[in-house]
Amino acid sequence: MKVSVIGAGNVGATCADVIAHKELANEVVLLDIKENFAEGKALDMWQTAPINMYDSRITGSTNDYSKTAGSEVVVITSGLPRKPGMTRDDLIATNAGIVKTVTDNVIKHSPNAIIIVVSNPLDVMTYCAYLNAKLPSNKVFGMAGILDTARYKAFLATELNVSPKDIQAVLMGGHGDTMVPLPRYTTVGGIPVTELISKEKLDAIIDRTKKGGGEIVNLLGTSAWYAPGAAAAQMVEAIVRDQKRVFPVCAWLNGEYGMKDIYMGVPVILGKNGIEKIIELKLNEEEMNLCKESAKAVKEVMAVLDNMKATA
Ligand code: NAI
Ligand code: 2OP
Repeated sequence: MKVSVIGAGNVGATCADVIAHKELANEVVLLDIKENFAEGKALDMWQTAPINMYDSRITGSTNDYSKTAGSEVVVITSGLPRKPGMTRDDLIATNAGIVKTVTDNVIKHSPNAIIIVVSNPLDVMTYCAYLNAKLPSNKVFGMAGILDTARYKAFLATELNVSPKDIQAVLMGGHGDTMVPLPRYTTVGGIPVTELISKEKLDAIIDRTKKGGGEIVNLLGTSAWYAPGAAAAQMVEAIVRDQKRVFPVCAWLNGEYGMKDIYMGVPVILGKNGIEKIIELKLNEEEMNLCKESAKAVKEVMAVLDNMKATA
């Protein structure tokens, strides 16, 4: 099993480290455009193997995609991160060019790979990879929902003073401030969360979750990486171990939830074929309206990408 991670920056390096540490693949390739950067990071990680007791081989490459040849799964993290004051959408022009070039190179050497996109703006960069990879949509999808639900679960665990392990939750919509956490589908050890917390406190946690990425950008001056890297690695694990995990994933919708031709976060079953099924929840009117609002915001940024192509 071979997994490649494109972009050896904060998120990519963290993701590769988790993949190797958990021995999700016997070969892990980290690639970056910056001279010797991926080689250096991979060497440092490989030197943790005797300490952390794993034998996944991790190597780095400066833009030589032949090293990624035959990858079963490729995670794309290359691209600029947000700085304070920027939205994810401000990144589109630069990151679309990067994601396009990277996807072309990935497909040339690994035509059967499953592609997980992490670069922002996430929903639209996933669309960009899909357009260029020309693979079926079950093989091209994006990571955001696992991160966003992890933030939601972490805030709830702190507030309720319970283990994060016992919190189950699902969240839908785009990876932005219009994302839709779903309290009706949130439980703590099987108990509906609404029985354990006041509406005011839950609303405050939902609001903090929606702005969770920006909170970290303001603290660090760049965006998060530990949770995003671990979240992408969890998707890799579900695929390479054919776990059939149920996760919120940025998926191409073809009529599900009454939506078409859009990449957006929805619950799916993730296994060896990538997205094996999109789960359609019976949303109530309020939840559906929030999803439609989020879809509208995603479509607006997808249109920016489509216009860029039209004028290119
Ligand atoms: P970073 O700046 O630490 O790393 C990005 C890396 O991409 C750099 O090392 C850079 O040299 C490399 N790169 C740029 N162009 C490339 C190309 N053409 N080919 C190969 N490598 C190239 O940034 P970080 O923090 O790792 O974030 C990466 C991306 O992930 C950003 O777009 C960020 O907004 C996004 N992100 C998405 C999240 C999500 O939930 N989907 C969460 C966190 C970050
Ligand atoms: C995050 O949510 C910025 O998308 C990045 O941390």
